[in-house]
Amino acid sequence: MMLNEIALPSFAKINLNLRVLGMRPDGYHELFTVYQTVSLRDELVIRESRDISVICDHPDVPSGESNIVHKALVTLRDKYRIERGASVTIRKKIPSPGGLGGGSSNAAVALLAASRLWSLDLNRGQLVKIGAELGSDVPLFFYGGTAIGTGRGTLVEQVKDVDLPFLLIASPDVNIPTGQAFRKLGSEDLTKNRSKSILKHYRDGVEALYSGRFEFENDFQKVIFEQFPDIENTAGVLVAEGASNVFLSGSGPSVVGIFDSALRRSSAQEVLANRRGIDCFPVHSISKTSYFERLGLSPGQSFGF
Ligand code: C5P
Repeated sequence: MMLNEIALPSFAKINLNLRVLGMRPDGYHELFTVYQTVSLRDELVIRESRDISVICDHPDVPSGESNIVHKALVTLRDKYRIERGASVTIRKKIPSPGGLGGGSSNAAVALLAASRLWSLDLNRGQLVKIGAELGSDVPLFFYGGTAIGTGRGTLVEQVKDVDLPFLLIASPDVNIPTGQAFRKLGSEDLTKNRSKSILKHYRDGVEALYSGRFEFENDFQKVIFEQFPDIENTAGVLVAEGASNVFLSGSGPSVVGIFDSALRRSSAQEVLANRRGIDCFPVHSISKTSYFERLGLSPGQSFGF
């Protein structure tokens, strides 16, 4: 590999729960979520170049200026008055929009790679700050593993990793823009009681992840299932095929099934393979350690761990 070229994986996330606590004065919603990085991933190759350019190989994801990676690099270049460019190629596997943080992950990984390519040596705090301006899920991808997200989703705290070896992500071919999904939530869909104690309640609830009693609940699920029967039916297949828990990720359209064996999971995958317009991905959770290794981060590096 040439020195002025960096290739990195860009992992997807799922939301093990997602509680929408209410509207904020800035127009965003206050959230409590448990994020988990998973093995489904895109690949980013970034090279030194005169200008900034982005090429994505997926027909549904734009190349050029409207790609979030382009915005990320322009933001970084302008902020640090860099007089160099970068060309990025994205090999896309993560469905978009999927509720899987694909674009956010690409933006985070591009910031990380460009910070190396341009010798900026930014620490995690600096990257998180720039990332949060680009999207609510971006900061998570500077942490990885199992993590709590609060505020807009940008305040990320790492928690002990949970090991989920047999996940099946099923993504029906339905386009749900995130902003639209939030606007569809009525007050009856929101988690009531915005007092501090509700956050404590959810924080305490994370312990149940490690004893198998966690409530995998997503406040978007009711509204999204009502509006898109294909998504509800997909979830129904995962339940019928023996998943111990089935839930929507983000604002959809992806649903996740947790299975207790590879065998059960593959029979669910076979059933879904016979349905049109559903992409299926057998994946496993990616721990912090593994996330760090794959992105070339190590504890003690200037990245801030
Ligand atoms: O931050 P991001 O670009 O992912 O958000 C997309 C849209 O989703 C926002 O414009 C907003 O309408 C909505 N959103 C929200 N509350 C959040 C995150 C996103 O209302 N916490």
